[in-house]
Amino acid sequence: MAELKLRGISKSFGAVKVIHDVDLDIGDGEFVVFVGPSGCGKSTLLRTISGLEEPSAGQVLIGGEDVTDFDPSERGVAMVFQSYALYPHMTVEENLGFGLRMGGMPKDQVSERVTSAARVLELTELLKRKPRQLSGGQRQRVAIGRAIVRQPKAFLFDEPLSNLDAELRVQMRIEIAKLHQQLGATMVYVTHDQVEAMTLADRIVVLRAGKVEQQGSPIDLYDNPDNIFVAGFIGSPRMNFIEGTISAIEGQEIAVSLTAFDGPDIRVRRRGSGGAVGDRISVGIRPEHFADASQYGIALTAKAQVVEQLGGVSYVYAVGRDDATKVTIQQKGHSRIDSGAMIEVGIEPGAAIAFDTDGLRL
Ligand SMILES: Nc1ncnc2c1ncn2[C@@H]1O[C@H](COP(=O)(O)OP(=O)(O)O)[C@@H](O)[C@H]1O
Ligand SMILES: [Mg+2]
Repeated sequence: MAELKLRGISKSFGAVKVIHDVDLDIGDGEFVVFVGPSGCGKSTLLRTISGLEEPSAGQVLIGGEDVTDFDPSERGVAMVFQSYALYPHMTVEENLGFGLRMGGMPKDQVSERVTSAARVLELTELLKRKPRQLSGGQRQRVAIGRAIVRQPKAFLFDEPLSNLDAELRVQMRIEIAKLHQQLGATMVYVTHDQVEAMTLADRIVVLRAGKVEQQGSPIDLYDNPDNIFVAGFIGSPRMNFIEGTISAIEGQEIAVSLTAFDGPDIRVRRRGSGGAVGDRISVGIRPEHFADASQYGIALTAKAQVVEQLGGVSYVYAVGRDDATKVTIQQKGHSRIDSGAMIEVGIEPGAAIAFDTDGLRL
């Protein structure tokens, strides 16, 4: 196991620069998730750590050693991809041991490692099967097993669960979390799925257009996003962004008049000293931070367009007086709101945050 460091990593494909001067320290045993929209450079950055991609500038250090010029096979890291690419004619056991046998490891040592990996991944009963006799989740466990038997310094996962159906994804996500607890290994995990990021990571690194937008613990990013991009990316359903104008400022609390919603000015917390009376801003409120108006008073009125009842929670999709500005409101349990009804909504105190017109947190 080892710590990973990226120092000033940039990467261009021809004239197109896709990674911009990324510095990153990943601790020994840490589970770090790279998250961001498709094409933002997650895979490229991961492949740079593995050696499959050579950086245009910068250094990669693994366990304190500069491995920038090392081949992938010399770096002691193992990658798990979205497509598991198992050998169809080999059994699970043979698939797991293949890389080690090719590397010349003695038979009984291979067998020992395969047995141990199979136990960790609960594949023991399946060792004699061929890949076609396995479910998608079991195949992906075999692919992870091939990484485990190598006893790598770090595991690199590139969207390993993307090919699985929703239910299996949840199961495998929990398997990977357990695996990390058991092995205590350094893991870097790429996904565009913010739920995977939230649930697996010790630390999330949010990437956008080849740059680190923000990094921190899942809850830290959830509660304290630095900008609209991170606020909108983390959390599902997405945070609401509602336009308004600052009407008063008192210390860390600002009063905002919402443009498209009737109701009194709402109270928004600010972090720094930004913003002035009269500034147009965007108020960020998560769907679950709306409350019944009887609880905290009326913050805004809106027209419910569609109500989705999921049993445990309900989502009310509502619009402002312009019939266009949308807001998503989450309610606990069953909703008693009818589609088409005018509703009065409260906001949990301290939950609303604000962004300036550049999308930066106030
Ligand atoms: N081998 C390549 N040649 C040219 N462009 C590439 C290559 N690999 C990736 N890119 C480009 O680099 C950008 C980042 O890609 P990638 O790291 O795969 O994104 P992500 O994994 O976040 O979806 C994209 O614009 C992609 O088209
Ligand atoms: Mg990718």
